[in-house]
Amino acid sequence: MPTQRLSVVVTRRLPDVVETRLKELFDVTLRDDDTPMTRDELAQAMRSADVLVPTITDNIDASLMAGAGERLKLIANFGAGVDHIDVQSARQRGILVSNTPGVLTEDTADMAMALMLAVTRKIPQGLQVMQSGGWRGWSPLANLGTRIGGKRLGILGMGRIGQAVARRAQAFGMQIHYHNRRRLRPEVEEKLEATWWESLDQMVARMDVISINCPHTPSTFHLLNARRLKLLKPTAVVINTSRGEVIDENALTRGLRAGEIAGAGLDVFEHGNEINPRLRELPNVVLLPHMGSATLEGRVEMGEKVIINIKTFADGHRPPDQVLPSML
Ligand code: 8YV
Repeated sequence: MPTQRLSVVVTRRLPDVVETRLKELFDVTLRDDDTPMTRDELAQAMRSADVLVPTITDNIDASLMAGAGERLKLIANFGAGVDHIDVQSARQRGILVSNTPGVLTEDTADMAMALMLAVTRKIPQGLQVMQSGGWRGWSPLANLGTRIGGKRLGILGMGRIGQAVARRAQAFGMQIHYHNRRRLRPEVEEKLEATWWESLDQMVARMDVISINCPHTPSTFHLLNARRLKLLKPTAVVINTSRGEVIDENALTRGLRAGEIAGAGLDVFEHGNEINPRLRELPNVVLLPHMGSATLEGRVEMGEKVIINIKTFADGHRPPDQVLPSML
C-alpha cells in the first residue's frame, strides 16, 4: 500500500510538529478544535479511514468496532494505556492496535513523586496561604507535613512506570516494596532494593505510601476495593497516576473522610472527569486533571511513536508497539 495514500484520521489536536509530519506522510484528517469527537464522528472515522489515531477520550468499544469499515486496518493509539479500546474485538476483525509505551514513563513517574510530596508536605496548603496573602511569617508549628525519607513505599504494578517511580523514591531514601503479577529478576530487585510481596493484602497493610502503577484491565479493576482499603494504616497515603478504575473511588473517599486513610494524590479518576464531589472537598487530597504525561517533549515523542507505528505498518511490517489481547 503506498504510504501517501493511507488515510489517517486523528481524533484530537496534537502538537504542531506531530501534525505537520503526519501531513507530510499520510492523507491525514486532523481535528480543528481541541474537543473530543462525538460517538457519531468516531463511527464515521472508523468507517472511512485506513488508520485511526485515538486517545484516551475515545471509547472504542465492541459496538463501534462492529461498525468499522473494511478499510480500517490499524488503530494507532496516542497513549500507552489501551483500556478505552476493545483490543479483543479489534483482533477478531483483523484490526491491529498499537500504543506508545516508554516515552511517557519518566514524566509519569515524576508526577507520582510530585503528588507524593504535594500531599505529604502540604504544598497546596502552603500555596493557598501565600496566594491569599494570609502568611504571617514563619512558625515552628505551622505547615507540618510528614517526611517521606525512610518510609515504606508500596508500588502496585512494577512495569516500566512502577520501576521509574521506584528509582526516584530510592533517591528520596524511601524503602521500596512492590506487588506485581510477576516477580522482577533478582538483579533488578537488587538494584532497586525492592521487596516483592506476593500478597497485596499483606503489602498494603504495612505501607506508608501506596503508588498505583498498573494498567487498568479486568483483573486490576477495583484492586483497591473497600475491603482492601480498610487494611491501610490510618497514616497511609495513596497516589494514583495510572487509571482511576483501579481504586474504588467512593470507598477511597469514605476512607479519607473518616480519617482511616491519611491522604491521596490523584491524577486519574474512576469516571473520567466526573469526580466524586466529596473527594474535591477534602483538604488531605491533591487532585490533578490527568497531567502525568503532560510535557511538550512527552507529547511530541508520543506523536513520533504513533508515526513510526503507522509508517512501519504502511511499509508492510508489524507496528513495533503492537498490542495483543494476551499482553493485557
Ligand atoms: C496519556 C496516559 O496522556 O498514555 C496513557 O496511557 O494515561 C496518558 O498519560 C493519554 O492516555 C493519551 O491518550
